[in-house]
Amino acid sequence: MQSNIKGIKAAPRALPRGPVLDWSSFRREDVPNVRSVEALPYTVFTTSGRAAIYQALLQLKLPVGSSVLVPTYHCPTMVAPVLLAHLEVTYFGLLPNGLPHLDAIDPAIAQKCKAMLVPHYFGLAQSLKKVRQWCDEHGIALIEDCAHCYFGEAGERAVGAWGDFATASLSKFFPVPEAGLLASAHRPIAPLQLEKPTLKAQLKGWLDVMELATHYQRLRGLSSLLTPLFRFKNLRVQPRSAQETTTEPIAGAMMRDCDMSRIRQTPLSAAMALKATLPRGRIIARRQQNFASYAAYFADVPGARPLFPQTAHSMSSAAPYVFPLWVDDPEEIYQSLRTLKLPVFRWDRIWPGTPALPQDVGPLWSHHVLQLLCHQDLSAADIDRTASMLVHLLQIQQATSRISAA
Ligand SMILES: Cc1ncc(COP(=O)(O)O)c(C=O)c1O
Repeated sequence: MQSNIKGIKAAPRALPRGPVLDWSSFRREDVPNVRSVEALPYTVFTTSGRAAIYQALLQLKLPVGSSVLVPTYHCPTMVAPVLLAHLEVTYFGLLPNGLPHLDAIDPAIAQKCKAMLVPHYFGLAQSLKKVRQWCDEHGIALIEDCAHCYFGEAGERAVGAWGDFATASLSKFFPVPEAGLLASAHRPIAPLQLEKPTLKAQLKGWLDVMELATHYQRLRGLSSLLTPLFRFKNLRVQPRSAQETTTEPIAGAMMRDCDMSRIRQTPLSAAMALKATLPRGRIIARRQQNFASYAAYFADVPGARPLFPQTAHSMSSAAPYVFPLWVDDPEEIYQSLRTLKLPVFRWDRIWPGTPALPQDVGPLWSHHVLQLLCHQDLSAADIDRTASMLVHLLQIQQATSRISAA
């Protein structure tokens, strides 16, 4: 396959954008001292991270129309649950380290807010001590969004232990079709009013896991038996029209794309069975290795830099979700990476009405920060392919700008 990007050969097959079940998923590996949000005293599993945020808001029993503080740098699935819970969204800006710019929040606005959603971006958790104090002083409930860090230490506490509630997303860390987690270190969780999925949905959940594995040629032996079955199944499926459009995002379309239809259901048995069975050590170790490979590639590249300096120590207690890379002039490079179907994305679909706030890095990150996936089912070769393509694109860009400047 040939791409149209200056003679660069496209990858023969898109790389997986999330974990994929394989025999290696069952391999045990010892990774000591990494805690997880799933070990908090109170936990209930949901269908997704967005469902967990929605349920966290319901637990707080806020009056209809109350305001919830949400960061300007977000993905739409962080905003949709707030609106669906009939609450108002108020945005806060970010410091260059990704923590809320608390000093910039107008006290009059803070007084109106009843909850605050604070994510640990990219799976690189940090202490929320100051955020916790600020929330306590203002009578604001803290929802710690651990969608990017199912595992890790957040300064003085384990991930998830700062929030009144913590929320997490299992599908980013396990080869499951869906699932999220609502947890708390402090507050018992009132029973969620969840409905069970149908038997058809349960079976489809298992099939989806196996189909994804077959698609990426995992589960060797079993996948060759299953391939004809999935081919036959897909003969009957109508091709879907392209989901992505180039038009401006609007709130209604964004809400629809967030697909909140299953937020009031229990997670599928396929997700719960795999979550209960799969060992954690390999997930953590492979993510650390992939992250370290990216860090080595981008330590000194003209036109790009790692968003954060990471020390070996902070990495040993993390299982990152992505490697965040700042690119000076990202537009063409990002479009090329998308065309090449490499496992890289950018949070450039910001909810309409998100304000421009003073000293907020959010809008800059939405434009300049590329998120390079580093999940456990990307091999060292996959990371090399993605990183070397990115380096190559950066070199072409540098050379082109030198020529145009001459
Ligand atoms: C920070 C953050 N919070 C919440 C979510 C929602 O998680 P899920 O996709 O499991 O609904 C996401 C999804 O990308 C996310 O990045």
